[in-house]
Amino acid sequence: MEVNQIRNSQLKENLATKEQYEALFLEMNPGYFERDYVKAIPEDEPASEMMLDLDDFDEDIYSKSFGDEVTFGYYDGDIDKLRENVARVVPHWTQFFGEQSRVYCAFVNGELASFCQIQDFGEHMVGDTKWKIGGPGCVGTLPEYRDRGLGLSMVKNVTKILRDEHYDHCYIHYTYETAWYGKLGYKTFVSWSGKGFV
Ligand SMILES: CC(C)(COP(=O)(O)OP(=O)(O)OC[C@H]1O[C@@H](n2cnc3c(N)ncnc32)[C@H](O)[C@@H]1OP(=O)(O)O)[C@@H](O)C(=O)NCCC(=O)NCCS
Repeated sequence: MEVNQIRNSQLKENLATKEQYEALFLEMNPGYFERDYVKAIPEDEPASEMMLDLDDFDEDIYSKSFGDEVTFGYYDGDIDKLRENVARVVPHWTQFFGEQSRVYCAFVNGELASFCQIQDFGEHMVGDTKWKIGGPGCVGTLPEYRDRGLGLSMVKNVTKILRDEHYDHCYIHYTYETAWYGKLGYKTFVSWSGKGFV
């Protein structure tokens, strides 16, 4: 590694402090710790927020090959059918899937297998730098299609889409699946429970 590259990666790691990350989180999620469902999260079950600097994204970090029966793309089918499938994974997520949602999926023989939203979290100043932040939300794989690499390949595709759309960072909100997203290089930047930041 060149000296400059080492310097850059060190700078990057030091780019945001814990306080800056906490402030960023609250800017993206105003009034978060006043919400009842947040207050209900026990102290011994903290959830995580994860981020990937898209300059550091290595798309070869995870790869899975599929047959022709597997395709990836935007959902343009019936919204009620989509919501029925979402409800089979996490029932209360159906409220987040509407006509305006940008939904990206994995399909097997044309049938919905994995789904997520592609969300825009806006532009935020972190220190002297403006971060344009997007990310996959409400990520799920229907039970009968799990453990084939579909969900993670879908998240990888969404990460590539956001990088190609010139986002700076890809953000995962409210997750317990840190090892799973970690396979793509996502890192936890804050954890929290109903009592606040851990
Ligand atoms: C989490 C979830 C989306 C995973 O979907 P999936 O399509 O089964 O995951 P994949 O098959 O793409 O997983 C890819 C790899 O991660 C591994 N993996 C699966 N679950 C994992 C986990 N919880 N932690 C670490 N690795 C995991 C798989 O074994 C596979 O490994 P390999 O390809 O190296 O052999 C799915 O279990 C789900 O819908 N859960 C309920 C909703 C949820 O919790 N969503 C995430 C909330 S943010």
